[in-house]
Amino acid sequence: MPADALPARGARRTVGTMSSEKWAEVDTYLEATVAPDGADLEPIRAAQAAGGLPDIAVSPTQGKFLYLLARIAGARRILEIGTLGGYSTAWLARAVGPDGAVVTLEYDPRHAEVARASLDEAGFGALVEIRVGPAVDSLPFLDGPFDLVFIDADKANNRVYLDWAVRLSRPGTVIVLDNVVRRLGESSPEAEGIRSALERFGTDPRLDATALQTVGVKGWDGLAVAQVR
Ligand code: SAH
Ligand code: DHB
Ligand code: MG
Repeated sequence: MPADALPARGARRTVGTMSSEKWAEVDTYLEATVAPDGADLEPIRAAQAAGGLPDIAVSPTQGKFLYLLARIAGARRILEIGTLGGYSTAWLARAVGPDGAVVTLEYDPRHAEVARASLDEAGFGALVEIRVGPAVDSLPFLDGPFDLVFIDADKANNRVYLDWAVRLSRPGTVIVLDNVVRRLGESSPEAEGIRSALERFGTDPRLDATALQTVGVKGWDGLAVAQVR
């Protein structure tokens, strides 16, 4: 595929005549209409903003989607790579229920601190273990299998994270990759990491995969989902 067929930087604002304002408006409508339970988790987003963390968490409808994937898979043990302020973590913790567990890996101790406080406050404290440091340093010490792995950290390492996710999986494990579209056309380590992970999604006979483009409050992007055979 020619590189200019892929989205490059700046692509999040408009695609042809479609406007990101319209996407955001519809997203807000959809959230209020089909996912109003996301309102409970708004304090986590507020704490994230108050702490000066970047505004890059999954959107409410995406968080609910992750939750539903985890519920549909019957996930009890979930691994997340990239905690930020704990917003996606909370959706995943909600999905595993009171006997489940979420292990989430975060590089930045300040992000981990904000997440810890928010998750405790939201009542998910006992379910969530945050391991602070580069994910590649934590991954070798984790015991699998996990029922679902959500990969949402530094995109340059996506392939490394996917390799670990498969290693820590069992047949049936669901693997989700965030942000697979927006930076796809760049020539950067991040784009390389995204493309390499997508290539394994499509070629590894153990993985049954797809990827979807998304629009909404976060602009134009996409996520990929695989199930381990
Ligand atoms: N999953 C979160 C958003 C994560 S943003 C949500 O949707 O709510 C990406 C996070 O990955 C940031 O907090 C960033 O600090 C973290 N990160 C970046 N590089 C990392 C690394 N090498 N190891 C672990 N986490 C990393
Ligand atoms: C951005 C969004 C994300 O979901 C993420 O994980 C990292 C960065 C962004 O909008 O820059
Ligand atoms: Mg993301």
